[in-house]
Amino acid sequence: MNPMRIGLLGLGTAGGGTYQILLRNREEIARRAGREIHVVTAAVRDLDKAKAKFGLDLRLTTNPEYVVDAPDVDIVVELMGGIEPARSLILAAIRKGKHVVTANKALLALHGNEIFSEAQKYGVMVAFEAAVAGGIPIIKALREGLTANRIQWVAGIINGTSNFILTRMRDEGASFADALAEAQKLGYAEADPTFDIEGIDAAHKLTIMAAIAFGVPMKFDQAYTEGISKLTAADIQYAEEFGYRIKLLGICRRTDHGFELRVHPTLIPERQLIANVDGVMNAILVRGDAVGSTLYYGAGAGAEPTGSAVVADLVDVTRMHTADPDHRVPHLAFQPDRLSDLNVVPIEGVVTSYYLRLRALDRPGVLADVTRILADNGISIEAMLQREPAEGEEQVDVIFLTHRTLESSMNAAIAKIEALTSIAGPAVRIRMESLAS
Ligand code: HSE
Repeated sequence: MNPMRIGLLGLGTAGGGTYQILLRNREEIARRAGREIHVVTAAVRDLDKAKAKFGLDLRLTTNPEYVVDAPDVDIVVELMGGIEPARSLILAAIRKGKHVVTANKALLALHGNEIFSEAQKYGVMVAFEAAVAGGIPIIKALREGLTANRIQWVAGIINGTSNFILTRMRDEGASFADALAEAQKLGYAEADPTFDIEGIDAAHKLTIMAAIAFGVPMKFDQAYTEGISKLTAADIQYAEEFGYRIKLLGICRRTDHGFELRVHPTLIPERQLIANVDGVMNAILVRGDAVGSTLYYGAGAGAEPTGSAVVADLVDVTRMHTADPDHRVPHLAFQPDRLSDLNVVPIEGVVTSYYLRLRALDRPGVLADVTRILADNGISIEAMLQREPAEGEEQVDVIFLTHRTLESSMNAAIAKIEALTSIAGPAVRIRMESLAS
């Protein structure tokens, strides 16, 4: 059988990793796919650099449209990132009847609905395993392996950079700024790390997982997103004293009123396996009604882990290429005309437990005032910790762990607590999840 012919848009980290895997494991991949998979052309930014790195048995161009238009390209693999021109190039490939493989989580989270609807119209596949958690086959697991289940919730450490920073803050007591600088030095964080540390990258990936888990369109614009840039080493330390770790979690959960879609720092019990996922590694915990909890762990970024996911998609597309488009695995796991209109629960409607740190004057009645406000708002305290004031200081850290309560009740309580003259500065609030069944 003729080889499947690939055109790469981008030959950087992910593109390079994909190319190397296809070369190195060529024979084994052909045995799995049923035919060979050949990269015939690639669009790159710097021709000389690419030639020096990958040799000349590949047609290189600086014009990505050339790859999309090339008559001998069956599958366009988009690994350039960003919204434009990636969006236009993918839509152009689809309209030419070409299958697409992409690792572009931001593009899918923002424009996935448009892209999948166009792919449906033209009967082509758009595969995106590499868009979420790099080498971990979580899309495959959610879309196919767990297809028997009503997915109840998904909770994931899906940004390696922020997990590396949190690990350094816990292990070394490093400040956020120092840990970020180290991540940048090691090349983990982007030059502009905002997407990583402010939870935006995680929200892109969560949006995609939620769509597949619940059979809903992409709703990135409704995701609640809070990053790790305001966390202090002290909060991480206090959480430890209560037996918790702080992780940046992406959580989507089915409720009676819709589904939650939120990314924020989260206290999780240290006995949970996912609480022990450290450094740049990613992990995703999925709870299905039939299977119970399942955990997926691995490298969320890097040349060959990402390439591993891209090649898996290429093999899938190669195997399914001749199948009737209506009987392939649907892009978003559910048949496109059977997507649900389940709404996103606003963050004020989320029910969870809380870690609350206050800076309080060490004098009689202060705690009584605070606990009265919590009680008035229906918030029950699970545990409390008060430190001795440091030498010469009048203020102390007071930490509360609460039972589950509505976010809007906690907002009301915090506003009243912060208005007390005995409380200095803003309260620190971190949500807690047991991740139990
Ligand atoms: N910036 C991402 C991370 C890389 O740190 O996980 C892969 O999406």
